[in-house]
Amino acid sequence: MSRFVALVPAAGSGSRMGSALPKQYLPLRGEPLLRHTLRALAAADAVERVVLVLSPDDDRFDAAMAAGLAKLEVLRCGGASRAETVRNGLEALAATLDADDWVLVHDAARPCLDPAEVGRLIAELRGDAVGGLLALPLADTLKRVGDGGRVAATVPRGGLWRAQTPQMFRHGLLRQALGRAADDGVTDEASAIEALGLAPRLVAGSERNIKVTYPDDLALAGLYLDARNAQ
Ligand code: C5P
Repeated sequence: MSRFVALVPAAGSGSRMGSALPKQYLPLRGEPLLRHTLRALAAADAVERVVLVLSPDDDRFDAAMAAGLAKLEVLRCGGASRAETVRNGLEALAATLDADDWVLVHDAARPCLDPAEVGRLIAELRGDAVGGLLALPLADTLKRVGDGGRVAATVPRGGLWRAQTPQMFRHGLLRQALGRAADDGVTDEASAIEALGLAPRLVAGSERNIKVTYPDDLALAGLYLDARNAQ
């Protein structure tokens, strides 16, 4: 039987947030944002292990940060890009995972993930030859910006989806894909798989699974967490 392991790259600096504190440590409803993310993954029954990949220089994560979090393992082998961080994490997992085991890569900065969605992603993809990802069809009209902040073109949005995470692929295939990819432009795991000529499956996700990137996102994430806790 294949196993399911979550891998959380958390070695980014979050420069777009405009804060000295990396965004995974920003306070969100009384706890560092990262704890919400790790708890959501551990709450998915099928997920056996939650592997967090930090930067070797990270001096903010300590035992207190990890207290009470189930299934957690911490690695300190993050790299200069997200792809490198994931690649290093996969290499470290090679000793304990088979090539056919599944890895669910999830952004540290998506704290509103619903554990039920992780279960749904696994149920939909566990028999798939390639794997896939949570994603959402685009709702807004898209504009390409030109000179002087003016619209150069309207980009047809038909057939366009926004990629989210988790992105779920077999350990062996993902390791092969990221081993070959140049890191430039590899902003998610699916694009590295696509570069092998394979077509990952899109599984419809939720608008609530936002990536905290800008300051306003943090307030919205708090509201989504409140709404879930009130259910
Ligand atoms: O910066 P961005 O929001 O695209 O980062 C997405 C995820 O990748 C975050 O969880 C971030 O911590 C992680 N990352 C990483 N190593 C890097 C850059 C980003 O683990 N060098």
